[in-house]
Amino acid sequence: PVPAFVDQLIGRMTLEEKAGQLSLMAAAWGGSKAISLNPPSGGPSFEGQVEEARLGQLTGVFNGNSARMARIMQTAAVTGSRLKIPLIFAADIIHGHRTIFPVPLAEAASFEPELARRTAEMAAFEAAGAGIDWNFAPMVDIARDQRWGRGVEGAGEDVLLGNLFAAARVKGFQGTDFRSTEHMLATAKHFAAYGAAEAGLDYNTVDISERTLREVYLPPFKAALDANALSVMAAFNELSGIPATGDEWLMTGLLRGEWKFKGFVVSDYTGDEELIAHGFAKDAREATKLAFLAGVDMSMQSGFYRKHLPSLVRAGEVPEERVNQSVRRVLAIKAMLGLFDDPFRRIDEKREAARSMMPRARALAREAGRKSIVLLKNDGGLLPLPRSGKRIALIGPFASGPQNLNGPWVVYGDDAKSVDLATGMRAALRDKGSLVVAAGSGVEEAIPGGIDAAVAAARQADLVVLAIGESFNMSGEAQSRTEIVVPAPQQALVKAVAALGKPMVVVLKNGRALALDDAVNGAQSILVTWFLGTETGHAIADVLFGAYGPSGRLPVSFPRASGQQPYHYAHKPTGRPNPPGDKLEEYKAHFRGITNSALYPFGHGLTYGQMEYGGLTVNAGSGEEIIITATVSNRGSRAGEEVAQLYIRDRAASITRPVRELKAFRKLALAPGQSEQVRFVLRRADLAFIGRNNRPVVEPGEFDVWVAPSAEAAGVTGRFVLS
Ligand code: IFM
Repeated sequence: PVPAFVDQLIGRMTLEEKAGQLSLMAAAWGGSKAISLNPPSGGPSFEGQVEEARLGQLTGVFNGNSARMARIMQTAAVTGSRLKIPLIFAADIIHGHRTIFPVPLAEAASFEPELARRTAEMAAFEAAGAGIDWNFAPMVDIARDQRWGRGVEGAGEDVLLGNLFAAARVKGFQGTDFRSTEHMLATAKHFAAYGAAEAGLDYNTVDISERTLREVYLPPFKAALDANALSVMAAFNELSGIPATGDEWLMTGLLRGEWKFKGFVVSDYTGDEELIAHGFAKDAREATKLAFLAGVDMSMQSGFYRKHLPSLVRAGEVPEERVNQSVRRVLAIKAMLGLFDDPFRRIDEKREAARSMMPRARALAREAGRKSIVLLKNDGGLLPLPRSGKRIALIGPFASGPQNLNGPWVVYGDDAKSVDLATGMRAALRDKGSLVVAAGSGVEEAIPGGIDAAVAAARQADLVVLAIGESFNMSGEAQSRTEIVVPAPQQALVKAVAALGKPMVVVLKNGRALALDDAVNGAQSILVTWFLGTETGHAIADVLFGAYGPSGRLPVSFPRASGQQPYHYAHKPTGRPNPPGDKLEEYKAHFRGITNSALYPFGHGLTYGQMEYGGLTVNAGSGEEIIITATVSNRGSRAGEEVAQLYIRDRAASITRPVRELKAFRKLALAPGQSEQVRFVLRRADLAFIGRNNRPVVEPGEFDVWVAPSAEAAGVTGRFVLS
């Protein structure tokens, strides 16, 4: 319910003050990696922005740099402005504030939404302690083209995983009490289908059917809103001809009409202004009108709303009641966040320092880090490595150094406080001198003499750990790649080192799925380690030396070649499917020379145990509930955590269905020799799909089921009939 004082306040506001409440700007005294307590030189003036707060021209700022900054601005708003309306402070706390947790894609690999809830909660604890009321996260965009760089901020390619992680992150950021000084408002972004950009080119056109939109891209938004996210960010992209920021069907019809969303919608950074470049609005005034009337309540950064809304209202082109409605939404949420009671409730310089990187936050970062790591292969059981008795050469551009640990989209984390791989490995080794480190290559450029030095180091060693992959800025916003491979100079390094024939472990650094083949030839073991944040080195060392058995599973399929993109496991069958396996058949769907399957599919990940699936039972009963059980046994000599995954395929339907769809999963900790039965319950609604009229439908028919260790593994399989 909107408190009564909000409408009284609206009654006293000028049109300019109303437009101010709908205008959010980047903080002039902005966030930086190493937080500076000095006002910036150059750029927009901080004093100018404080003055805007005093004049009621701002609803708040984002990515400001400290509680101290927030205090100065808030003081101007609540003591200096005519109506004393508090500012709201927003930020991009994507995967941690000061303590940096694994990038969201990495955390999704844990297949443990509760872990994401906990890290989001810790991020909120630190950030809200530093004056931040509102977070521009979670990003809940499904990403099925790995060329797109922003997949790193989401939960990968799968809808179920996307839904679970979206809800978990919202709950973690927001908690249950909006007034809490340990939580902040969450934003479901980017509405909608930002991840479906053609060719994975960031900001590019999206042209998909309403069915695909509803079946693949919208569900995580719905899950976030069902978890009570009260803000939504409009996407930059156009959606089948209409830019999302100007799409009334999306922002009002669907979001408010169909979904009954009660919060507010903010544009992305200059998203309203970009309606002009899209060729949708002829000028700034029209862009303002189209975005606002579509249902975007608040403008970010362009200044268009505060510049043009008042005159649009005066000219009768925008009803004032519509402006009041948007202002009401914004003020109601400021009230919910407790800002009218105490505008300084989250602004506390002492608390900001006290909450920064507490030991329990670092411990959680380490736990999240190791749970995010995925073991792709482990021939001959090379991993885990012994902690003594072997000389190890750690080679590669990611062996040491602070810059590629935290990953993209870190506003407030300090690289220097993160643990690199060499440090983590040394801490785990009994004989610290048994590790030699050589870069061998830069990330995208060769180092003169680098390969020779690396080969010399490897020659002296008993085994080699190769830390290769992508740098932190090769994924993230605007970082689309045409070839999703390990860069050529690093491949040359791997080839030279592999020629020595030493046992070799590849530790991959990556913000997306990569096409790996050439880069890892000769490696017995491969660990996908993404960007793990503050505790990177410790987390990787925990897995390398067996203090923790790998339990992560791929949230994105690793293709055989870049040209397979967009590849995702839940693809449609085609009329000419290539039979499973490596055999290529003429006039069947595959690219020349490769089967159209993943090299490492969604859901794949090994443990240090040896898992075996058996004993599938399927009981469809009367059809209301289908009970599926299977037995998973650890035949190995080490414990392991298995993620048993339930997939289905609807064999024939009025709309073609994917070759497999994940419906449930369960994590099992199995001691050597231990077996456990997993039990899944599928309800009729779980079998629904978006039918011909773009509404959910459940159709009778035959369904295949698999309980399997990945989306493309055989596992154990059965069938049931739904009547
Ligand atoms: O929150 C982000 C968004 O994801 C991309 N554009 C900039 C916004 C604010 O920093």
